Formats: sequence, structure tokens, C-alpha cells
Amino acid sequence: MDETFITLEYREEKLFLIDQRVLPTTFTLFVCNTYKDVEFSIRDMVVRGAPAIGATAAYGVYMAAKEFAGEKDFETKFKQACAFLSLARPTAVNLKWAIDRMLGTYEKAKKLPIEQIIALLKTDADAIRSEDIATNKEIGRIGNTVVPANATILTHCNTGALATAGWGTALGVIKTAFYDDKNIFVYADETRPRFQGSRLTAWELMQAKIPSKLIPDSAAATLIRDGKIDLVVLGGDRVAANGDVANKLGTFALSVICKEYGIPFYSVVPVSTIDFSIASGADIPIEERSKEEVTHPGGVQVAPDGMDVYNPCFDVTPHQNITGIITERGIIRPPFRENIERLRNGESLL
Ligand code: MRU
Repeated sequence: MDETFITLEYREEKLFLIDQRVLPTTFTLFVCNTYKDVEFSIRDMVVRGAPAIGATAAYGVYMAAKEFAGEKDFETKFKQACAFLSLARPTAVNLKWAIDRMLGTYEKAKKLPIEQIIALLKTDADAIRSEDIATNKEIGRIGNTVVPANATILTHCNTGALATAGWGTALGVIKTAFYDDKNIFVYADETRPRFQGSRLTAWELMQAKIPSKLIPDSAAATLIRDGKIDLVVLGGDRVAANGDVANKLGTFALSVICKEYGIPFYSVVPVSTIDFSIASGADIPIEERSKEEVTHPGGVQVAPDGMDVYNPCFDVTPHQNITGIITERGIIRPPFRENIERLRNGESLL
């Protein structure tokens, strides 16, 4: 079953995004008319989630090409726009992955007339979007194999259709298991401070009518200790070549608790989230966001004026704490470095 909403869609010469800053109380579309609007939408988290960021940026590249078409220093301005887009957020590697792919399309086409270059860039942006949906369906099918019947699953942040071009990664696995009549139950972490769990995952779970409960992040440890969770599935923003995974803040703590209590812990990502150039998680740039996200969540003041804040947006889970990384080309299991190298060489792990 597919969603009734479309996270991102290019039509009428504009990019339409569901404005994820205001869900679940308001459903509205944010319209990008220029590549600068696209950069803003990623930086301000109108759209978020690694694969969704990548697909959105691909349209940003196409829109930049259209904007500068006909200018004599086209290539300089186009590449500056790509560099600008790639700085919108630092951790999710899908942003760079998508922009590099679009630049590769440009390099192959650059001797052609500008109208043809632009048409090829549009085709590639559309392909990045549609391939992501197909990839997620395949991830769901593969991930479903690790979900036992009657499982109670814990997830963190939002990894659903909203975080991707459609269907989702970890939440895609959950939905696939649900539609496979596995009689699952889901606990969703609220995911402070931006509440992707309570605002977005809960919204998606309710739309799909998946039996579930929302929990404060810090309730997860007690549920795991008390034997109430059969497995944890969550996403990833960048996977290093040794299997370390950067994901939403709180993922690392969950992994430690799962390891302590012997609970399977899976990260679910498309292969485009693997950064083969990064040796370990220590090299992954971790975004720090504003103090206001913590002192004024949702605009409501919850800390005294002037209080200083540390607000890292992601953390790194060492591969030693991970049972497996579920991708569209199979499940990466230990030894992670060797198996990730096999994927890099084009092998399938199925
Ligand atoms: O800051 P966000 O909301 O962009 O962070 C999202 C996550 O951490 C997700 O878990 C990750 O991008 C995977 S989404 C399929």
C-alpha cells in the first residue's frame, strides 16, 4: 500500500515539498522557485531525512542550471550553485552523493546545447527520486526477513516516506512487515529536540494504522531492559567504510542498551548513504544546530534566558554495537569492513 502524500514533487517548473517543520498540526506545501529556495528548504529542515535531502538537492542542481542557462560564465555559476547546495547540511552524505551524480551527468553532457544539458539534468533528478522509491521497496522486502512474527519494534527519528522520496527505509521495513500480516507493534521515540518521532513518525504510523505508541526518548532503556522490545530498526545519515553509522542523536545510546541486553539492532540505509571514502565514524562531520532548538522547542521557552546549549544533531554508533546494516543490496553483517568493500566492488550481499 502506498502513501496518500508526496514528500517532494517537481511540477509546473517548481519543486513542491511537504513542509515538515509544521507537521502534524498543519499540512502545507513549501514551494521552491529557485535553487536558493532549495538550499533554504534543506538547511531549515522543511525537508529532512538523508534520502529526501539528496533527491531535493538533485532538483536544486537542475534549477540552478535553468537559472544560469544562456549566461556566458554558465559553468562557473552552475558549479558555485552546486557547492552552495552541498553545504546546506553537513552530515547526511546523500546530499553530496546526489549533487556529485548530477555533476557527473553535466560533465558527460556539457558539450551539448544547453537545452539538452538541462533536459538531461531533469531526467537524472527524476531518476534519483524514482530510484529512491524503488530502492526503499527493495530495502523493505529484505529488511522484513529479520522481523519475527509478533515482533515489538522500537524506532528512532523519522525514516518513513517523509524522510525519503517515498515509502521509507527503517519505517519502510516496519510497513512491509505490517502489510505482511506479521502482527507487529511499534514504539516510536519522540526524538528530541526536533521531535521527528512524535511529529512525523507518529503521523505516518497513524496514517498506515500500524499499532504503536509514542514514548519519551528516555523510556526506551526501561522497555529494552524489561524485555518489551524484540528489535530496533532505525536509519542512518552516513555509514563509514568500517560500518560505523552516523544517525539522529540518541541512536548511539540505544545501541549501547541493545548490546547490553542482547537485542538485535539494525540500521537501514540505501547504498547511497555509505561513504566509502571515510574510514571510520570519527571522520564523519556532525552537525550542530541552534541553541533555540533546545531552549525553545516548537517556539515554547523551556530553559532560562541566557543558558548555554550543546546541540549535536547526530551521533556515531560504532559498528561493534550494530547487528546489521540493511540495504537494497543485502544485509551488511560483520565483518563490516570486508562486506562494505564487497558492496563497493559491485557485489551483492543477497
Ligand atoms: O535531522 P534529520 O531529521 O534530517 O535526521 C534524519 C535522520 O537521522 C534519519 O534517521 C536518517 O536521515 C535516515 S532517513 C531514511
